Amino acid sequence: MEPLVAAIDQGTSSTRFLVFNAKTAELICHHQVEINQSFPKEGWVEEDPREIMQSVYECMERTCEKLCQLNISISNIKAVGVTNQRETTLVWDKETGEPLYNAIVWLDLRTQSTVERLINKAPGRNKNHLKHKTGLPISTYFSAVKLRWLLDNVDEIQEAMLDGRAMFGTVDSWIIWCLTGGRNGGVHCTDVSNASRTMLFNIHSMDWDPELCRYFDVPMEILPKVRSSSEIYGSMKSGSLAGVPISGCLGDQSAALVGQMCFKEGQAKNTYGTGCFLLRNTGTKPVMSEHGLLTTVAYKMGKDEPACYALEGSVAIAGAVVRWLKDNMGIVQSSSEIEKLAAAAGSSYGCYFVPAFSGLYAPYWEPSARGIICGLTQFTNRNHLAFAALEAVCFQTREILDAMNQDSGVPLTQLQVDGGMTSNRLLMQLQADILCMPVVRPTMSETTALGAAMAAGAAEGVQVWTLSPDQLPHVTSEKYEPQINSDESEFRFGRWKKAVQKAMNWET
Ligand code: G3P
Repeated sequence: MEPLVAAIDQGTSSTRFLVFNAKTAELICHHQVEINQSFPKEGWVEEDPREIMQSVYECMERTCEKLCQLNISISNIKAVGVTNQRETTLVWDKETGEPLYNAIVWLDLRTQSTVERLINKAPGRNKNHLKHKTGLPISTYFSAVKLRWLLDNVDEIQEAMLDGRAMFGTVDSWIIWCLTGGRNGGVHCTDVSNASRTMLFNIHSMDWDPELCRYFDVPMEILPKVRSSSEIYGSMKSGSLAGVPISGCLGDQSAALVGQMCFKEGQAKNTYGTGCFLLRNTGTKPVMSEHGLLTTVAYKMGKDEPACYALEGSVAIAGAVVRWLKDNMGIVQSSSEIEKLAAAAGSSYGCYFVPAFSGLYAPYWEPSARGIICGLTQFTNRNHLAFAALEAVCFQTREILDAMNQDSGVPLTQLQVDGGMTSNRLLMQLQADILCMPVVRPTMSETTALGAAMAAGAAEGVQVWTLSPDQLPHVTSEKYEPQINSDESEFRFGRWKKAVQKAMNWET
């Protein structure tokens, strides 16, 4: 049996554990568990760190059972990688091993007033005041402001910090610490791609930045050690995989970039998950955006390897709009139903839906924007709303793709996509229509997990990525060509832009 590599993929909406053949990248088996989100107040989004760990253990054990049913020994798994929702912020007690508050999810808006205060006191009220070091605008999105909120508002965290018991981490750090032993010697670390989303990390020196920590008044002793994305951090301490090294760690969007084999400068992918994230590899050079994109560390494939950077267009709400139509509005019973409804409508009939539930991210970075649905008539029904919701995902992608093309000067000629929503064929066709360019979807859609498994395998000498992409089964793909003319597409995009202006100025 050829060696296997595995990955824990802890996303905003679900956790998965997936096992791949390390030579061919074939997906052997997997298990998935949904994650509950709580919304304790308007704009707040939390998840339970214990539930996150429970889901990780459950996915690993169930996948191992499935492997046994296939008559494959779990001892063939040589390495495990971790990939995760980024920015989501946790603090736990290193002595009890218990979280000291719920995880504050990246989408959370509770820090809006803190962010406004920070921007107001920045020279020239410039939200890009820290961008030269971090690549990021000051926003509710990143971990530093969430951590500041926790330190200011949760007594248990303040006490633990004074006693030297507090540990901060993004979801990768929490998972690795728990799996490597937790309070009995767990490894407290993160990788450069996750660290670069905190606003405390200097993307040039590749380390925590004392000045940034002072700016947010964050004590450096609670931060995890920053490691590369592909090296042995520790090994599993319990369960069926006890002893297996954990040797890959990447934020989920970086992992998708790796899984889609975008290793060359200029290569890009767009992942449709809870949010939607377009990343373009800029090689070993960080490129600063002039058009509202982020500069982020994409990966560093080994201690002695150079870091690679990416330009990123981040959209907060993509799959989340479908979940909202299901959970909050009851318009669909399951997420997959949306495609049938939208197909029945065939058009939004002039209805535009801007799902600015967490403000607007790229290219606007406007936390005070709120969702709107406009253009309603008595004719409008739930099918049109479903169509408008899918179209919103496509328009948002068009905005970040336009920004990316303006920044790089070398326009993309087709869009490489992945993520859960890409199984929606109507969405893929709509995306090609709205972009006026082909959209290419790999038939193996688990590219995020594959990227993390590849990083883990590489550290253990199982180097999937040295194979040429055409040897890998997931590289077979499906192409969607635009089917409407560019005038039609421009007209609809123009309308969308007007709707965005209303979402940004809804109070005036
Ligand atoms: O930055 C947030 C992102 O990492 C979340 O990804 O897949 O949960 O939408 P996803």
